[in-house]
Amino acid sequence: MYQISEMVDRNDRVPMMTGRTRRSTIGPTPAGGNSKQANGSKQSSAGEKTPSHPSHSNGKVKKEKQVHEPVRTPQERSTICERLSCHVLQESLLSSASGYSNYRGILNWCVVMLVLSNARLFLENLLKYGILVDPIQVVSLFLKDPYSWPAPCLVIVSNVFIMAALYTERKLSVGTISEMTGTFLYLVNLTTLLCFPSATVLTLTSMTPAGGVFALGVYTILFMKLYSYKDVNMWCREIRHTKARTLTRSHSCPSVAQSNGSAVHSHVSYPGNLTHRDIYYFVFAPTLCYELNFPRSPRIRKSFLLRRLFEMLFFIQLLIGLVQQWIVPTIQNSMKPFQDMDFSRMMERMLKLAVPNHLIWLIFFYWFFHSSMNFVAELMQFGDREFYRDWWNSETVTYFWSNWNIPVHKWCLRHFYKPIMRRGVNKWVAQTAVFLVSAFFHEYLVSVPLKMFRLWAFMGMMSQIPLAWFVGRFLRGNHGNAAVWISLIIGQPVAVLMYVHDYYVIHYMSQS
Ligand SMILES: CC(C)(COP(=O)(O)OP(=O)(O)OC[C@H]1O[C@@H](n2cnc3c(N)ncnc32)[C@H](O)[C@@H]1OP(=O)(O)O)[C@@H](O)C(=O)NCCC(=O)NCCS
Repeated sequence: MYQISEMVDRNDRVPMMTGRTRRSTIGPTPAGGNSKQANGSKQSSAGEKTPSHPSHSNGKVKKEKQVHEPVRTPQERSTICERLSCHVLQESLLSSASGYSNYRGILNWCVVMLVLSNARLFLENLLKYGILVDPIQVVSLFLKDPYSWPAPCLVIVSNVFIMAALYTERKLSVGTISEMTGTFLYLVNLTTLLCFPSATVLTLTSMTPAGGVFALGVYTILFMKLYSYKDVNMWCREIRHTKARTLTRSHSCPSVAQSNGSAVHSHVSYPGNLTHRDIYYFVFAPTLCYELNFPRSPRIRKSFLLRRLFEMLFFIQLLIGLVQQWIVPTIQNSMKPFQDMDFSRMMERMLKLAVPNHLIWLIFFYWFFHSSMNFVAELMQFGDREFYRDWWNSETVTYFWSNWNIPVHKWCLRHFYKPIMRRGVNKWVAQTAVFLVSAFFHEYLVSVPLKMFRLWAFMGMMSQIPLAWFVGRFLRGNHGNAAVWISLIIGQPVAVLMYVHDYYVIHYMSQS
């Protein structure tokens, strides 16, 4: 103790390192310092401050000190003590016991490595195939014959179904037709809405697969929207019947002109919502769930709108370019191994396709769910911008499906899952039923435009149920998250290759 105290005194003219908070293991004595023992237990210190030495009370020494040395605060003394020690009982950062979790730099490294390795792939692709990007070629994907625009014409015809829904609702609201008749009319309307475009796509030879996907996509969205429109208006009638007096226009529903889509965003109640303006606002709004009074944003932010527009234009060009330059040649090169059923080469091709396919899917996600939906929402002053949640952190497959496409998920919950659960259906049966409906629509959107029925999309969607069970049962945390990513990265190219292979065999092999 004495020696240490002396050393402290000798060293006190060295400039002090302020702001150092490192814990010292060496105190003045084992009992008096803030020391940590080998077993990890901390010994409580009677004096965290440097204890005063007996010699300090000696009058002579005291006098000398008063003459030659400045008086040091306890803080100064402990800082000086710290210089004597440089080791602490601690784990290495990469040991799990260290509790260290800040891997921001590693994440940056991953991004840098990803960019570098893809730059090499990009260069290799350019050297091998030259520049394949051709924006004009895209037009021919939609329009084989410049005088025939079947897909846009089909979309325009969809107005008939919108009008049919509105007029059915108006008749129901005044009681001209019964609920039973209304349900029947909706059944006819919605069934025709799905069957008519698919029959058109299947029979029209001028309809290209891309045009077919576009037209059927619009009709599927319309189907879900009109189904929601039917349900909500029916709920309104139920409420009107049960609470006739108290609810009717209690929130000032002065006129039809103040429904969704009007310049003045005042409250509307049933049946004031049954207007052309209201239904068309809903048809174009970025949601599948109808509501009488959507939350509205106060104004259109021009800079936000322009940024989203720029992103939309940029990312769509990037998507088209990547498909032409990267996906098309990879798929073309995959045909031979698939014909020969060469499994190792098939696997190699599939993994090769996985990278561009996944990149394109991620860009598509941003383009559609962030840029495009926000653009439309901003333009229409539609307030609810929750189009996706943090699906990238999914540790279970069900979390992914409940968070990556919020408009569809919300519709499934509101118009299918919860209604059948309320009827006493078991949770697993209800989830299976939702995935069954979803699988049907996935297959509808792929098989009809390609004019071949292979059920790959259907099976892909249905396989989510056992996958969800497996991941939920056996994997947790990061392992679960990795499993979700792997299923996304590998699952999609498998389905893509299956369809492309079958399409190629039907259309090109038969010709040759
Ligand atoms: C099937 C699916 C709807 C299940 O969703 P989930 O969030 O895991 O379902 P949960 O069991 O956790 O319940 C969700 C809701 O139902 C409610 N619920 C549960 N049991 C209920 C019952 N018996 N009665 C009424 N509501 C009930 C819950 O309270 C919860 O409500 P909240 O959202 O308001 O909190 C979802 O996985 C899904 O949307 N799948 C299909 C997705 C899809 O195909 N997307 C296509 C994208 S291309």
